[in-house]
Amino acid sequence: MRVVLLMAITINGYIAGLDDDTDWVKDIDALNQTITEFGVVIMGKRTYLECIKYNVFPYKNALNIVMTHNISLQNKNTDQILFLDKSPKEAVDLLKQRGVKQSLLMGGGHLNGSFLKEGLIDEILLDIHPIIMAKGIHLFESEFSNQQLELLNVQQINDQIIQLRYRIKK
Ligand SMILES: NC(=O)c1ccc[n+]([C@@H]2O[C@H](COP(=O)([O-])OP(=O)(O)OC[C@H]3O[C@@H](n4cnc5c(N)ncnc54)[C@H](OP(=O)(O)O)[C@@H]3O)[C@@H](O)[C@H]2O)c1
Repeated sequence: MRVVLLMAITINGYIAGLDDDTDWVKDIDALNQTITEFGVVIMGKRTYLECIKYNVFPYKNALNIVMTHNISLQNKNTDQILFLDKSPKEAVDLLKQRGVKQSLLMGGGHLNGSFLKEGLIDEILLDIHPIIMAKGIHLFESEFSNQQLELLNVQQINDQIIQLRYRIKK
């Protein structure tokens, strides 16, 4: 199964401010289009809580997977929402067993780092926003080793945002 990481980032590589500020993210229409195309989104528990705050959870037209060690959240599972207490590898294996061909990894920094560390990300899509942020949450948090990438595409999304598509060399 192909895992594609999609993130809006500042030009200095942050995905949110230290106070979780993402008010600067301006590519929501393109995001929803990509989510529909993939049909499965995977996010960490803190991102899930932010999505609730912004009233965008669950994403429509997709299976929403929330990675959390809080098993009590599994009471909220529906056909469209799956709270999983699993490692990234176990989550990917589960999706493969269900016949899923591709899924969109949607943050945040800690979950991104866990997937990167386990070699589970195939491609990275970065929507680069015209902002420099003094402090914040990095694209990848936690520990991982150096990775070599291949640039696949550069696309201008609108008059402010550039999207870069990379393949992670394995
Ligand atoms: N700019 C963007 O495109 C974008 C996209 C997404 C998110 N964000 C921002 O990113 C921030 C959240 O990122 P974050 O790094 O703080 O949190 P996160 O990665 O969203 O969530 C981390 C939490 O997920 C759970 N988890 C379960 N399995 C995990 C695993 N294998 N690895 C890591 N976490 C796992 C843990 O919660 P439990 O304690 O419940 O187990 C952990 O505390 C928010 O501000 C959000 O708005 C930005």
